[in-house]
Amino acid sequence: MTHKIALLGFGVVGQGLAEIIEEKGESLRSGFGFDAKIVAISDSLKGSLYHPEGLDISKALQAVKETGKLDSYPETPGLVRGWDSFQTIRESNADTIVEITFTDVKTGQPAIDHCKAAFESKKNVVMSNKGPVSLAYQELAELAGKNDVRWGFEGTVMSGTPALRMPLVSLAGNTISEMRGILNGTTNYILTKMEEGLSYEAALAEAQALGYAEADPTSDVEGYDAQYKATILANIVMNIPMKREEVECEGISHLTQQDIQWAKKEGKRWKLIAKCIKDGEKVIAKVGPEAIPLTDPLAGVLGAQNAIMYNCDLAGPITLIGAGAGRKETGFSILIDLINISRGQL
Ligand code: HSE
Repeated sequence: MTHKIALLGFGVVGQGLAEIIEEKGESLRSGFGFDAKIVAISDSLKGSLYHPEGLDISKALQAVKETGKLDSYPETPGLVRGWDSFQTIRESNADTIVEITFTDVKTGQPAIDHCKAAFESKKNVVMSNKGPVSLAYQELAELAGKNDVRWGFEGTVMSGTPALRMPLVSLAGNTISEMRGILNGTTNYILTKMEEGLSYEAALAEAQALGYAEADPTSDVEGYDAQYKATILANIVMNIPMKREEVECEGISHLTQQDIQWAKKEGKRWKLIAKCIKDGEKVIAKVGPEAIPLTDPLAGVLGAQNAIMYNCDLAGPITLIGAGAGRKETGFSILIDLINISRGQL
């Protein structure tokens, strides 16, 4: 059965996903049984399109590439223009809403309201925005369950690196009492570059130019981005109902070139470490800079890479290292949730 998709937001992630579906459509169909059609795109700046039988994605990508808007998408019978996000959610024939709008991570809006409208309209949601999952997980998960629809958010932590699905699926049966990781690419990039001699400001400017940093990089450098991700992992992977404010948080903006050189002399390296340790009823959850020995597996994670170590009672410590951001990588994180919805595995 064709999986009909509506994209709310057509920025880097939406275009990345559209390109993947465009380029790999046939192999996704024949190799993975994933037959998808994008029926709607709604973007607050670029405009919106809806066609119940599916849009021509190469033409939508071309329109945005050439003009920055969807207006030059060719007129076809049955095409609807100008719907807002809620019309797209409620009135389109999409099975799944891909929520990739520009959402304020502090309030989770408009993504939280989009999720509610979608679930109430019996539509699945897939997203990579951290806000709704870290701020309203219980409420939204209940609403999705009540309406018997699926909610995928693999891309919220470590983009396409399976930080959520790997423990939930492949480590099922283990008790995970500890996790420890590097969950923010911008700060890891800054720390790597500072060790190479760059100043904090120059390294941050490079991370921004490369597209790793959040729109407001305060969220990266003060640790809040990693704090959101640690909250998601604590709730979803370790089953600890924890709020973001309960995760202690310190950033890296106060680290100087002197601190970096001191660590180097000691055979250590600064990393922004996110951790959650459960010891009986006691939970320690924290994001903060640590000078770790070079023998620590996390010390070898350089540049914008991310990593997470899960300490499992049966399988022992397992570490995943991979990208934590990127057009294709985050596009893929959305794709894998869509594939798993199609397969009935989410
Ligand atoms: N600003 C984030 C980072 C992007 O640097 O990791 C991915 O969430």
